[in-house]
Amino acid sequence: APIRPPDLGNCRPIQHDNLNCCPPYCPTTEIVDFRPPSDSSLRKRRAAHRLVNDQEYLCKYELAVARMKALPDSDPRSFSQQWRVHCAYCEGAYPQVGFPDREIQIHGGWLFFPWHRLYLYFHERILGKLIGDDNFALPFWNWDAREGMTLPAIYTNEHSLLYDKKRNPMHQPPVTVDLDYGCHDDNPTLPREEKNLKIMYRQMVSNTKTKELFFGKPYRQGDMPHQGSGNIELLPHNTVHNWTGDPNMPNCGEDMGVLRSAARDPVFFAHHGNIDRMWNIWKTCLPTSPNTDLTCSDWLDASFLFYDEEARLVRVHVRDCLDTTALGYTYEDVHLDWLQARP
Ligand code: C2O
Repeated sequence: APIRPPDLGNCRPIQHDNLNCCPPYCPTTEIVDFRPPSDSSLRKRRAAHRLVNDQEYLCKYELAVARMKALPDSDPRSFSQQWRVHCAYCEGAYPQVGFPDREIQIHGGWLFFPWHRLYLYFHERILGKLIGDDNFALPFWNWDAREGMTLPAIYTNEHSLLYDKKRNPMHQPPVTVDLDYGCHDDNPTLPREEKNLKIMYRQMVSNTKTKELFFGKPYRQGDMPHQGSGNIELLPHNTVHNWTGDPNMPNCGEDMGVLRSAARDPVFFAHHGNIDRMWNIWKTCLPTSPNTDLTCSDWLDASFLFYDEEARLVRVHVRDCLDTTALGYTYEDVHLDWLQARP
């Protein structure tokens, strides 16, 4: 059977840090079923490195984040609740309904792509709502393109709300990201950019020829978490997280390098924009395409709860998120430098 939405009345603080990632909830809160958005125009997510000089966009984005950070902690749309959503679904805050000793875990298996897509979907719409802009779209960190291979500059200004001080001080621009980062810096024999492009080709084309290799292993109601990650989740997803976080923090790797704190860093959402974009690219743009989504109902019918831009509690299924245009957004077309980088 598919993973069912958590019972929000049965959410537990995280033992380890005494961190409470449970969302505000009262038993009389009504749960509504997801409806696809009816806004007419498509939000277009653009590559973060191309936005450095777009003052108008940056003002909007920063204003939206400022308003999100200004909401009271008790509001599920506040920044502090937004990062906790990720924390709760990754740190065992929710037992599976009917299996009290099994947690709901959205990493390490086939829920990885759909859950994060939906998380960004709601986050983006909340930001847009806070500035009254139905077209607002998050940027994506285009680490798979030569031009996008540094921490995007729009996140590195200390005076901006997009900044986070818990990052690796050695990995600031113009240092090139290491998509194969193994928790220490090394000197590649090839130029780093070229190496990254080969890794992208390998991970997107050579290593994801089957659906399971792309999406990850099945994970159903009653299963232990971490049945097996898909190849993109392992790399570059995990590696870019680890590369970004600060290894000198007491919990090594905060914020981005530790799942429970990762979404405290606004660049999380740009990183996951690109991960999400890879799902679209895998389906339509590769030599192996068209690749199609999984068709089994234990995946399609898995469901989660999110608070939306109106602070309504929404139940949404994996089957609702397979088509990004139906969700009202798309990605700017960017040249796929790595498609020619067959190792
Ligand atoms: Cu849920 Cu990039 O992690």
